[in-house]
Amino acid sequence: MTDNAKLVLNKDQTAELPIHKATLGEPVIDIAPLANLGHFTYDPGFGLTAACASSITYIDGNKGQLLYRGYPIEQLAEKSDYLEVCYLLLEGELPNTAQKSAFIDQIKHHTLIHEQIRSFFNGFRRDAHPMAIMMGVVGALSSFYHDSLDIHNAEYRQLAAYRLIAKMPTLAAMCYKYSIGQPFMYPQNHLDYSENFLQMMFGVPSSPWQNSPTLARAIDKIFILHADHEQNASTSTVRMAGSSGANPFACIAAGIATLWGPAHGGANEAVLNMLHEIGDAKHIPQYIAKAKDKNDPFRLMGFGHRVYKNYDPRAKIMREVCHEVLAETGKGDSPLFKLAMALEKIALEDDYFIEKKLYPNVDFYSGITLSAMGIPISMFTVIFALARTVGWISHWMEMLSTGNTKIGRPRQLYLGEKQRNFVPMKKR
Ligand code: SDX
Repeated sequence: MTDNAKLVLNKDQTAELPIHKATLGEPVIDIAPLANLGHFTYDPGFGLTAACASSITYIDGNKGQLLYRGYPIEQLAEKSDYLEVCYLLLEGELPNTAQKSAFIDQIKHHTLIHEQIRSFFNGFRRDAHPMAIMMGVVGALSSFYHDSLDIHNAEYRQLAAYRLIAKMPTLAAMCYKYSIGQPFMYPQNHLDYSENFLQMMFGVPSSPWQNSPTLARAIDKIFILHADHEQNASTSTVRMAGSSGANPFACIAAGIATLWGPAHGGANEAVLNMLHEIGDAKHIPQYIAKAKDKNDPFRLMGFGHRVYKNYDPRAKIMREVCHEVLAETGKGDSPLFKLAMALEKIALEDDYFIEKKLYPNVDFYSGITLSAMGIPISMFTVIFALARTVGWISHWMEMLSTGNTKIGRPRQLYLGEKQRNFVPMKKR
């Protein structure tokens, strides 16, 4: 039984709008009956629009709560690992020992990329932004895997998901190697997922790989924190692309493109650039003033969130990981980290930020952490895209598994010209 909202447009135009209740969070008002009233709803930015029903991730922006399939991010970051979280997001339940082992074997089976893809990199300048490369090569995967493009076949959808989760680290590391002129490293499947990524990033053919369990665990936690986040901009893009029937590799490439923006996944790169620009704690007040100045486009990168109006739970964990990595890498007295801590303290005590409920988000500390691991700033969003691939593909699979996906097609409030006749040149 659903309650109804009653809409009265004028005395003879009313509608009963069904209200659907959620397991957690806000109920939704179903506006389908508006079709009979000749009206659209208006919600630029979709801040108040539930574009779909989903069971994957829940966020409570006021409580600062993030659940993957009901499990709190704090518990998953502490007790789980990224591939187990991938299984959870894809399948809806934590795997038992046999399921986890089989899943890991599946992923390891797909870590290699087709050798032809290596030549794609030669078309890019060495200083090309790695997100531009990732958009290109991930989209190009659709030309290599014709055997898993039938999106209506559940087995093909699962195979495409495994291929993407498995190959993103390989492709991401190739972007880095290409930028520094070092040879690409092949995945070593005796290593676990995150250690394998670090090996492909920092290993060289001329000497054996020296792992750091602390750094491998740190990057694994970073992957967990970034794995999914409900209907954010890039996930909504993947769903929209998937609704047209586009193949999964093209949909993920569209997600990568959207994530690149500094308001979204590009924020971690923007935070580091901002900290370098601020340079010293004595300059913080002037940058806080810039962030508050409506006439100044500058925003405090790594602060604020469309949904979190409390501390982003991922930021707290990210700060702890940052501490661990700085200690492990001997950069505990990192001036950048100290500057970030000073900036966070000042911002959290500032009335503007308090009033507008602007808190550090996941991007505020991730960049400093990645930088301390020797990962260049331009690679930060690539790491985000690598981790978020499982979230994107889980939403894509959830949408298509319903079997009745309709193409996404929002409408508009038209404010243009009324119909008018063509004007010949001599009369213009
Ligand atoms: C991610 O959606 C997701 O889930 C995204 C993400 C994910 O995991 O997928 O969480 C990842 O994208 C995190 C956000 C990373 N972006 C940044 O750190 C960039 C800096 N932040 C801002 O650009 C901004 O906070 C957004 C884009 C994140 C949110 O922008 P909104 O929706 O416009 O924020 P808002 O409506 O809550 O803003 C309220 C007010 C506004 O001022 P007024 O119009 O009320 O006068 O706060 C202001 C904003 O101008 N404001 C800021 C600010 N963020 C918002 N002012 C200064 N600095 C900021 N960072």
